[in-house]
Order: sequence, then C-alpha cells, then structure tokens
Amino acid sequence: MCGIVGYIGTEDAKEILLKGLEKLEYRGYDSAGIAVRNNEGVHVFKEKGRIEDLRQIVDKHVHATAGIGHTRWATHGIPSKENAHPHQSASGRFTLVHNGVIENYTLLQKEYLADVALKSDTDTEIIVQLVEKFANEGLNTAEAFRKTLTLLKGSYALALLDEQDPDTIYVAKNKSPLLVGVGDTFNVIASDAMAMLQVTDQFVELMDKEMVIVTAAKVTIQNLAGETIARDPYTAEIDASDIEKGTYPFYMLKEIDEQPLVTRKIIQAYQDINGELTIDSDITKAVSEADRLYIIACGTSYHSGLVGKQLLEHIAKVPVEVHVASEFVYNMPLLSKNPLFIFISQSGETADSRAVLVKVKELGYKTLTVTNVAGSTLSREADYTLLLHAGPEIAVASTKAYTAQIAVLAILADVTAKVNGIERNFDLVHELGIVANAMEVLCDSKEEFEKMASEYLSDTRNCFFIGRALDYYVCLEGALKLKEISYIQAEGFAGGELKHGTIALIEEGTPVVALATQNDVNWNIRGNAKEVLARGANVCTISMKGLETEEDRFVIPEVNELLTPLISVVPLQLLAYYAALHRGCDVDKPRNLAKSVTVE
Ligand code: F6R
Repeated sequence: MCGIVGYIGTEDAKEILLKGLEKLEYRGYDSAGIAVRNNEGVHVFKEKGRIEDLRQIVDKHVHATAGIGHTRWATHGIPSKENAHPHQSASGRFTLVHNGVIENYTLLQKEYLADVALKSDTDTEIIVQLVEKFANEGLNTAEAFRKTLTLLKGSYALALLDEQDPDTIYVAKNKSPLLVGVGDTFNVIASDAMAMLQVTDQFVELMDKEMVIVTAAKVTIQNLAGETIARDPYTAEIDASDIEKGTYPFYMLKEIDEQPLVTRKIIQAYQDINGELTIDSDITKAVSEADRLYIIACGTSYHSGLVGKQLLEHIAKVPVEVHVASEFVYNMPLLSKNPLFIFISQSGETADSRAVLVKVKELGYKTLTVTNVAGSTLSREADYTLLLHAGPEIAVASTKAYTAQIAVLAILADVTAKVNGIERNFDLVHELGIVANAMEVLCDSKEEFEKMASEYLSDTRNCFFIGRALDYYVCLEGALKLKEISYIQAEGFAGGELKHGTIALIEEGTPVVALATQNDVNWNIRGNAKEVLARGANVCTISMKGLETEEDRFVIPEVNELLTPLISVVPLQLLAYYAALHRGCDVDKPRNLAKSVTVE
C-alpha cells in the first residue's frame, strides 16, 4: 500500500511525479502529495483524496527539476491533509515520503523526540524528525539518514529531500518495494516500474536495508555500513500500452476481457518446442519430493489456491492444504515431515504472505512463488517462481490474475503428474484452448450479465452465492468480487451448509446465485436452490451445458469439469462489475482498498 515516486534531472518534475502517481494510484488513494525543490526551496502540495484532487492545488508556476511524491493508503492516522505525505521536519529542512509501517515509532518518539511538536498522527513523521535531530547534532545528511534507518523496525520505502542539498534525493528500502530508474540526464525512483515507464525502461532493483544516494548523474547504492554496492540495471519488460485503459471505461472490464488471451499466452509460455507442457525440472522435483504442499495466499489468490488444491490432488495426486497467510503465520498447524510451500500472489508483495515466507525459510523449508510480477519480493525470496504472464493487473479487484493462477496451477499439476508417470485422462493444452474459447463466448455475452445485474442486484442489500465442490470455491470468489466493488454484502456458501444456519437470512426477494457446473452434485445444488426458492429467494442459476435445466438463467459453454472455475467465474466477475456500475461505484478503485497490500 502507498506508492512513492521521485525525479531528479533537467525537466520540470511536477508533471513527471503526478503522472507517476497516477500509475501508482492502485496502491492507495486516501491522499496524495508532492514536494519539489528549486532555488527558492522546497514546495509541498498535498491533499486528501485522489491525484486528480492534488492536481487542482499544484501551483503550475513553480518550476523545479527535483521532487518526490506519494499516494497514500492510510495505516496510522485518518485520511486527511495533515496526515498526507510528504511530511516535513520541524524546521522544514527535510521532506520525506514513506511506504510501509514503522512498528517502533512510539518508542522512538518517546526516546528521541519527546520535545518535538508533531504535526501529524503518522509513523512517517517520526522518521523525518529523527533525521533532523541527528543532522542538528552534527551529522551530514547521509549519516543522519543512515543512523535513523538503523533505528527503524518495520517496513519502509523512503525518499528524502534536504533543502540544503538541492542536487540529491536520499532513498532507502526495507521490505516495501522500491526501484531506481536510470536515464541519461536524470534518475527516478518508483514503487513500481509502471510509474516511470513514461521516462525510462532501465531499472535498478534495491534490496532490503540498502540506502541510495540519487543525483541527476549518478546512483550510489550503499548498505547500512556505508559500503558501496555495484548493481547493473535491467530492462523492464512491460509494454506501455498494457497499462493504458484504451477504449474501456474501467480497467476491470479490460482485464476481464483479456482472460482468453492470457489463458492462451500461458499455454504458450509453458510449452516446449514440441508443444508439450513443461516446467523447470527443479520445481517438479520439489513438488514430487514433498509429502504435502501448503498453499499460502490471501483474498482472491487464496480462492484460486482452493481450486489449485483440487487440481494438484486430482491430477498429480499430491496432498495439499490451503491456508490464509495472515492466520497461518501466527497459528501454524502441525506440518508434515517434508513440506513444500507454494505462495500465490498476483503482486508478489503481499505482506501477510511474505511473513509466512520469511518464517518457513527460517525453518529451512523449500518455497515456490506463483506470481504475476517477475522480480517481486515473494519471487526474489522464494526458491522457485512460476510466472502468470497475465500482464499488469491494475483494477483493484483481481480478475485475470485469478484465472491465470488457476491455469498455471493446472499446468503444474499436469507436468508433475507426467514426470511421476501418473496417467492423465485429458490433454491439458487442448482443454485450456477450449476454456479460452468459452471465456470469449462469456465476454461476448456482457449484455446478458448487465441485464442479470439489474434484475437481481440493483437495489439489494445482500446476496448469496451457493455451489458445491469446485463451484463452492468460485462462489467465494464471486461474493468477494461483488462486495468489494459494489458494497453489497455478499456471502459464498457451500450449498449444503446453508440450511445449517444461514438460511435464516433468506427473505422474500433475497438474491441467490446458484452455480451448477459439477456433474456429481448437480442435483444436490438444485435441491439447495429449491430450498431457498421456497423461502422467497430470487434464485439465479448459472449452469454448464450438459447439466442445464429449463429453469436456469444462464448456461455457460461446456469445458472439462476440473477447469470449470476458469469460466464459471467470468459471469460472476461481470455481475459484480455491472452491479457496481449501476450503483455508481468507482469500479477500479473501491473504497478503503489498495491493490498491493504491503502491511500485515
Ligand atoms: C480481491 C483482491 C485481493 C487480493 C489479495 C492478495 O479482488 O485482489 O483479495 O487477491 O489482496 O493479493 P496478492 O494476490 O497480490 O497477494
């Protein structure tokens, strides 16, 4: 959460910073601010709300060639102008932006800053006040910054301006992501390469506990002992057009529509020259040698993990447990003798998942990350990585990453089975091709889902999704999509479980979406749908071809039963999208949320 940018060079910094922040807005949008440095000093502009609100108050006449910026997802202190970054030291000499959480900030305040009147409720202000304190005691800026860093416990990506040193931005990182972008006459910093693709595609990765001194001409990386570290830039392989909305009104709709293409890209990415699916043999060896796989994830990625468990157990015959990261880390179950941990994370930055990764690595276990972001923290820190190849996912509500995760886990299951000589009764390349075609049919049926959204969800307070077997897991995801973007209270339920309590909530007109794509439980789920219908529910059944009945509201094309989550989720994504749209919600940036959750 929170995104930071910085620029130092020859151009006017304001527009570069504002454009960069617009690309990082997915990381939080409670407030935003920039600070720019010119001959007159440092000018700070900040505002509660979004980058478009910030734009209104930035003074166009201030010309400056260096600056830093921030978009906030509030952790310490309410969303307000006072708590918006950048924060300044008491004298105004130092100005700072921060992404992360400083766990010991109250202790530091008591110990070092008891006589400083703070201007905000944030943990960040403590950092900038400490730098000033140590500078006042005689340290130069680099030394004061380094001393401050050695005191901080927690996560941070920081950028610091010193009014007395106009040609430098001081930067540091621990746990929160941060990159330095390199240009001929300038250098930049960003939480995510996307923010600065507008000026460069050359980036230097920063590691934890590194401090960087950035000028227009030079990037000097140091460790906290002050030793210089050499590191070459890499080329960020993101197509600038991937991060534009094009003709779509919202990224979410674009990303839903991209799912057939992403599925085909994944097939290609994991095919060898003979068209056979393949995965790095070290990974299949690690999966085969494990006596149990532990999938660790959050939110939508947790939901894809539940489907992944079924795929790995059915196809590769490996036992799998799936855990919510934030629970697992402080409440570990008894582990098997030889586990392999699989982290599923679109962003590769989720703090809850990373906390588990750090813990199980300390215990000496092997780790694999399945992520959309090459070079992300979870990818770098795990032993192995499988990439999703889904392209940047910008809408806060995850769609194409969910289906990509399932497709990649299916491939992992299939290749592991092949390596272990386990017979498979289908050709996965062929079946995924059918899935991609079916997704296309669903994406072409938008009008139908728009109608369904207005029919079932236009003025409801709540909604239930029921399913059995794989459909149940998709229902969890359908409910999450609906609640996060339309604010309708929604619950995904195992069809058979409803009557054990929750059915009490069914009233006249309560919408219940029933999924019926699983042969073995088709009649059971239909029975559950009848139970709620009899109590007045407004039932909308979505079934699969071959299992349909006349009462069904929509029938999705037939695909291999194990792969149904890849397509049955599409109607639910579109229902959520249109429900949110009809309610006038900001589909891409739902309230209180951020895309990359980098705090525990
Ligand atoms: C919901 C959503 C979140 C994420 C969760 C984990 O639409 O996107 O539930 O799935 O925050 O994020 P990643 O996958 O980046 O670890």
